[in-house]
Amino acid sequence: MDFKLTEEQQMVKEMCRKFADNELAPKAAEYDKTHAFPWEHVKKLGEMGMMGVVYPEEYNGAGMDYVSYAIAVEELSRGCASTGVIVSAHNSLCLSPIFYFGTDDQKKKYLSKLCTGEWIGCFGLTEPSAGSDAAGTKTTAELKNGKWVLNGTKNFITNGGVANVAVAIAVTEKGIGHKGLTFFILENTMKGYSVGKSEDKLGICASSTTELIFDNCEIPEENILGKKGEGFKVAMHTLDGGRVGIAAQALGIAQAALDASAKYAKERVQFNAPIAKNQAIQWMIADMATEIEASRLLVYQAAQFLTEGHGDRRKASRYAAMAKLFASETSHRVTHKAIQIFGGYGYVKDYPVERFSRDARITEIYEGTSEIQRLVIASNVLGDY
Ligand code: CAA
Repeated sequence: MDFKLTEEQQMVKEMCRKFADNELAPKAAEYDKTHAFPWEHVKKLGEMGMMGVVYPEEYNGAGMDYVSYAIAVEELSRGCASTGVIVSAHNSLCLSPIFYFGTDDQKKKYLSKLCTGEWIGCFGLTEPSAGSDAAGTKTTAELKNGKWVLNGTKNFITNGGVANVAVAIAVTEKGIGHKGLTFFILENTMKGYSVGKSEDKLGICASSTTELIFDNCEIPEENILGKKGEGFKVAMHTLDGGRVGIAAQALGIAQAALDASAKYAKERVQFNAPIAKNQAIQWMIADMATEIEASRLLVYQAAQFLTEGHGDRRKASRYAAMAKLFASETSHRVTHKAIQIFGGYGYVKDYPVERFSRDARITEIYEGTSEIQRLVIASNVLGDY
């Protein structure tokens, strides 16, 4: 067992850390306040190869492994959690299903532009009646005169308002549950495709979260993604990767909260001494640091299982769920303690920890709630009985 990062992983860590410290962190509060999408950052991340981290160079990807990817999302999220999820949803939720289930032509056409960040991608799974129950999809797709015609509404779609390409699931055969679902690739310029309500959120305010509306949206027959009836499996496979991305985002937010708390505890003087001299503060710092380190091991291990192959589906699934569950709940606890260490200053926007706390909260919800992660882990551990 080797806990050392490879040269490439170390390089990605340093590159993303520098970018986060110099470019993301100084502007994160402003983006949080204005809810503006950070186009300038996304453009640069495309140039840095971070919009197609694990995909082969023949599709303009950076050809790295999943641990490098997790490190990239972690470091970027340290600087700006909104940017972290923009990168994660794009890489894990849109590019991944095209890469694993797409045809050669689809990969050439879509990945080449998505990997450079010229196009942004999103993932249309969730609907008003299909949240945790991902198979509850109501959107329909019918083949008419050589075209698929989609009708329905997706909601809570990360990158929804800015995406050029969406992969989305729809019912192609009614009455047979998850076996009647199929994935498709859509472009935002296609007839009948529009962006609906934009959500006003508690945190990750600079990321776009919207509805996608398909109103007799016509797409070419060849834009089916994977096989007819296998959409649910495409969704689950995709989420195994996505959950590692969100776990890495949670880890980055928690690390940012610990760094800020340790610095503040050494500077803030009360009763004639820095508050870091108090055992109550030291214990909080110790617990925060320990839980973050445990999260990091889980996240990198889950990423390593993705690199070793989605082949062992149960293993990739179980460890991705464990990493997301633990890292997101750690991020919640750590950011809560960070506000406590900052006291009144933690509750106001002059310091970043209230934002960290708001940003952390969603990591326990999207790409499967903590309850769904526990369900996946338990069914994986218990097997059939
Ligand atoms: N990979 C591939 N196939 C898988 C799989 C995986 N990880 N997990 C399950 N499957 C397959 C099973 O083999 C089974 O196939 P067969 O029917 O051929 O046997 C099929 O899928 C059904 O499996 P289960 O019976 O285990 O499914 P279930 O209905 O009991 O449980 C669930 C499914 C785990 C609850 C699932 O619905 C789930 O993960 N729900 C949460 C959805 C979610 O995460 N939503 C988040 C939305 S995306 C988002 O937030 C995006 C964003 O913008 C940030």
